[in-house]
Amino acid sequence: PRPIRHPQHWASAAMPPLQRFLSACHADFWPDHDGAVANYIPELGKADPAHFGISLATLDGHVYEVGDSRVPFTIQSMSKPFVFALALDALGSDQVERVIGVEPSGDPFNSIRLNAENHPFNPMVNAGAITCSGLIRKARGADAFEAIRDALGRFAGRKLDVDDAVFASEVATGDRNRAIAYLLRTSDVIKEPVDDVLAVYFRQCAVLVTARDCAIMAATLANRGVNPVTGEQVVTPYAVSRTLSVMTSSGMYDFAGEWIYRVGIPAKSGVGGGILASLPARLGLGSYSPRLDGHGNSVRGIKVCEALSAHYGLHML
Ligand code: DON
Repeated sequence: PRPIRHPQHWASAAMPPLQRFLSACHADFWPDHDGAVANYIPELGKADPAHFGISLATLDGHVYEVGDSRVPFTIQSMSKPFVFALALDALGSDQVERVIGVEPSGDPFNSIRLNAENHPFNPMVNAGAITCSGLIRKARGADAFEAIRDALGRFAGRKLDVDDAVFASEVATGDRNRAIAYLLRTSDVIKEPVDDVLAVYFRQCAVLVTARDCAIMAATLANRGVNPVTGEQVVTPYAVSRTLSVMTSSGMYDFAGEWIYRVGIPAKSGVGGGILASLPARLGLGSYSPRLDGHGNSVRGIKVCEALSAHYGLHML
């Protein structure tokens, strides 16, 4: 039997249409128990598999939400697009684009494979994201993580905390990322010491967000870098358009082709169970449900995005 958590679980005719849609999605996909909580980082395995929250932010700053939309979870790979945008603005596009490619890799997110130039395929796989963290470390030194936390917070419109237990767990089990970082250093892609760069990367992955935060962060990208709730210009339109481009081609890892074919909305997932989707000039969506499929994408989150795209005819193409 399904536990009743909040009255807004139930779609009703009295609700505004978007709220009714989210509530119906929540009720429809709640029974889906497919997939498994990530446990390759032991601390992630402690997530409650039942949690399911959805939020949608429109560009006039209205935020709709249903279910566990205010339950914090770690941002993980959903940090990657925002740190890429920050790197473009902080270092200039030349420096960033010189060392990170923009081609889909077709590989899993943690692949050690680099492109023919020995550079990361794109900023959405670990190699590219570690490179971005290294660039911020180069620009900001010991303040690098705080600069990232601050930027993520401006996208979300509030100050964000870090889950120290997840951070420690990432450090303890992060040998594959360490191997990738050493490889990047031998190719001169990162110049900073590996441990300094990974301390930034692991900590950025452990930043705590909610589905509601993700919706606002995605809406900020959809709104050319202006947070629709706070009105702040967080990054430049150049950084936004390039970030949405790589989310379109590589945001869902080795599922990216299928995703853009079926859903047609730029998106990014994280192994914490979040998905954020950003439709330019329209809306931002955030979902949280920690059961993942074999690609590392949230099973219910994918269903929500498919339903949103189909119901409102939002496929970009
Ligand atoms: O690099 C890692 O292992 C994680 N901390 C981030 C990975 C992640 O979220 C990949 N996503 N689906």
